[in-house]
Amino acid sequence: MLSKNKSKENLTNYIDAMSGVETITAHLIAHAFKLLGVCEDKDVDYLSLPVIDSKKDLFLACISILEKEGLLLTENAEGCYRFRAGSIMSMKALAEFKAGLTERCPAIEGHIALLLQCAKSLSSVIAGKVDGLQVLFPQGSSDWVAATYQGNALQDDLSEEVARQVIVALGKQTAPDYVPKALEIGAGTCATTRRVMKAMALSGVSAELHVTDIALALVNDAERSLAEPYPFASFMVLDIEDPDCDKLAAIGQYDVIYAANVLHATSSIRPVINNIVKLLRPGGVVIINELTAFSIFATVTFGLTDGWWLFKDDKRIEYSPLISSNVWEELLREAGFNEVYHYFPESEQGNYTRQSVISSHLDGNR
Ligand SMILES: C[S@@+](CC[C@H](N)C(=O)[O-])C[C@H]1O[C@@H](n2cnc3c(N)ncnc32)[C@H](O)[C@@H]1O
Repeated sequence: MLSKNKSKENLTNYIDAMSGVETITAHLIAHAFKLLGVCEDKDVDYLSLPVIDSKKDLFLACISILEKEGLLLTENAEGCYRFRAGSIMSMKALAEFKAGLTERCPAIEGHIALLLQCAKSLSSVIAGKVDGLQVLFPQGSSDWVAATYQGNALQDDLSEEVARQVIVALGKQTAPDYVPKALEIGAGTCATTRRVMKAMALSGVSAELHVTDIALALVNDAERSLAEPYPFASFMVLDIEDPDCDKLAAIGQYDVIYAANVLHATSSIRPVINNIVKLLRPGGVVIINELTAFSIFATVTFGLTDGWWLFKDDKRIEYSPLISSNVWEELLREAGFNEVYHYFPESEQGNYTRQSVISSHLDGNR
């Protein structure tokens, strides 16, 4: 166990390095957009660029990034573009910058590897020549993305907090012979699941954990590796957007439901929260770990997939499916949750507010 000061130092180091990754990502977008046909010496019309309809949101998000970073001059988002002369870092300069960052913070190596893979394909994905899902999950492998969900000070701190809150919620139930139940939505490669399982095993709380994801292959992988060491867990497919999801999971029976980096990947957030309400017991707790600020890195990596752009509601941060902390709070209260608690990891520069654990409980006794 690291001391509090050491944890803060590691987190500060990671946050600084990720801010450098944001800069590198913006410049890599510029290089990809050169391949699409945008240049420095003349205006280029949006209509002359090879952008397929389904990738227009990704394209416009990238335009907005280039503009904000001072790399691009635009007439308007769907008008004419020209790179600001001399503003783009060369690939050699970017490689040196990147080497400096990874030396200071080796934990970002996984992010950089994923980023380079995605940035290399960005122009082809926008032009519809390559499937973004294949770039992120080559031959169905989650190895590239899994590296970003664990093994760094931020994600580890947030997952630890989710696990801590799950244990507190499960431990509240003291009636004799009652076995409390937890549900995980979108367990994916199980970075958070493992933390929760370890904490449950250590806590001595006797409880059940239902591990779910929309993707059968991920559920099967999770079951293969985790069913034996953690016999209190069971595994099943669950789409939290499905209006009938209460037929698959136990309606009104969960003491706690948690989801890490999942709920943004949905078309409409209110029905998702209402489904969570249906699945919880009165007094039950929801715990959500989410990015709550725009991220250039996330746009160029997870943004390659159609899932990132699924959202149809007006609750999201501009050019992303993400939801700000304030809007999460408003949505949870509107759905019947009580005080909303925001956990922000502590760095040496104060609390980090771009990703957080948001939690609340429903009214009523359990
Ligand atoms: C970004 S991954 C996060 C994985 C994991 N929670 C973690 O923190 O490592 C998002 C996961 O949500 C799942 N997912 C996407 N849409 C979903 C839905 N409607 N219902 C349930 N799971 C969903 C995906 O299959 C994927 O495994």
